[in-house]
Amino acid sequence: MFESLAPAPPDAILGLMATFRADPRPDKVDLGVGVFRDADGRTPIPAAVKTAERRLLETQTTKTYVGLEGDAGFNAAMVGLVFADALDPARVAVVQSTGGSAAVKILADLVRRAAPGATVHVPDPTWPNHPPLLEAAGVPVGVYPYFDPATGTVAIDRMLTALRAMPRGDVVLLHGCCHNPTGADPTGAEWAAIATALRDGGLVPLVDMAYQGFGDGLDADAGGARILARTVPEMMAAVSCSKNFGIYRDRAGCAIAVAADPARAAVLRTQLSAVIRAGHTMPPDHGAAVVRTVLEDPALRAGWLEELDAMRDRIRTVRTLLADALVRRTNDAAHARLAGQKGMFSRIAATPAQIEALRTRHGVYVVGDGRINIAGLAERDVERVADAIADVLRR
Ligand code: LMR
Repeated sequence: MFESLAPAPPDAILGLMATFRADPRPDKVDLGVGVFRDADGRTPIPAAVKTAERRLLETQTTKTYVGLEGDAGFNAAMVGLVFADALDPARVAVVQSTGGSAAVKILADLVRRAAPGATVHVPDPTWPNHPPLLEAAGVPVGVYPYFDPATGTVAIDRMLTALRAMPRGDVVLLHGCCHNPTGADPTGAEWAAIATALRDGGLVPLVDMAYQGFGDGLDADAGGARILARTVPEMMAAVSCSKNFGIYRDRAGCAIAVAADPARAAVLRTQLSAVIRAGHTMPPDHGAAVVRTVLEDPALRAGWLEELDAMRDRIRTVRTLLADALVRRTNDAAHARLAGQKGMFSRIAATPAQIEALRTRHGVYVVGDGRINIAGLAERDVERVADAIADVLRR
């Protein structure tokens, strides 16, 4: 049977990571996959995470099964992190997931169970793995306008017009903060307008929250999700701990579904558990146990927040350095926008041939759509990368 299979195309982001690793050039620069790096180019494990791991090693007495929903303490802490007091916890159903990707898939499965045929609309552009995850659940995928390349900001008028034209009952996927790949987030007033359009149109938001704390701060970055929670009767959120806890390979996150009332939330819990059982039975424990340990211990939590603040400060510093370096080289003020965009990613307006030349001529790896991982750029490489980008943009 397997002779019928042709090779699957390489993943746009993780395939690039493999190509980078195989590149023998010592001065190559990886601005592809979304991982944070410090000034020395390392992806650190936060000290609070290390302490929590040691504590777990010493105190854990069993590895028996936890349960379909995963770690209840972790799940509750994650709901608090995202929604704070914007929601009545009795309306929430939450399950642990193996990272943010699996949370999107779990919620897509839930949508399919609740409303077969409902379309999930993703922003243009979006993370390249959104459509495959949704399609794997058998959910139709639509696209709505999101980004205005002329201004580097959200195309809010076109977005609202598109939202108002969607059929009631459809789902709208929104990046909670630090939009991937553009770094362009709605303002508070724009979130309020989006929330009103969703409520009035009977649409259900699905917030993908993968970078909380990397934009303006832990609470500020959840501002949009909290406005939605206060406005619409039902919503979902896919949350990742990969970046803000630095535990990428441990795959911790959660899928949250908010119902109109506690009785419906109880039904949602059974449905989410059934989705998990039909998929991978239950999530791996370690990453979530570490996050719970950090969030439940005031000293560890404070230490983690300090490290998160430092990560965000570094991203902002590198944004400003790169923006200035590009404006100086190109005399194009549009590059100054990089400084004000949020989170790990921004996009450079480069053609596929220019992206290819960045890699082949300069050893600078960026995703094929022009996405650069600014959080992966060491200060010492800023000038060199700016030289390389300016060079290919001239060609
Ligand atoms: C990214 O966008 O680079 C990260 O979210 C990693 C991934 O899984 O693609």
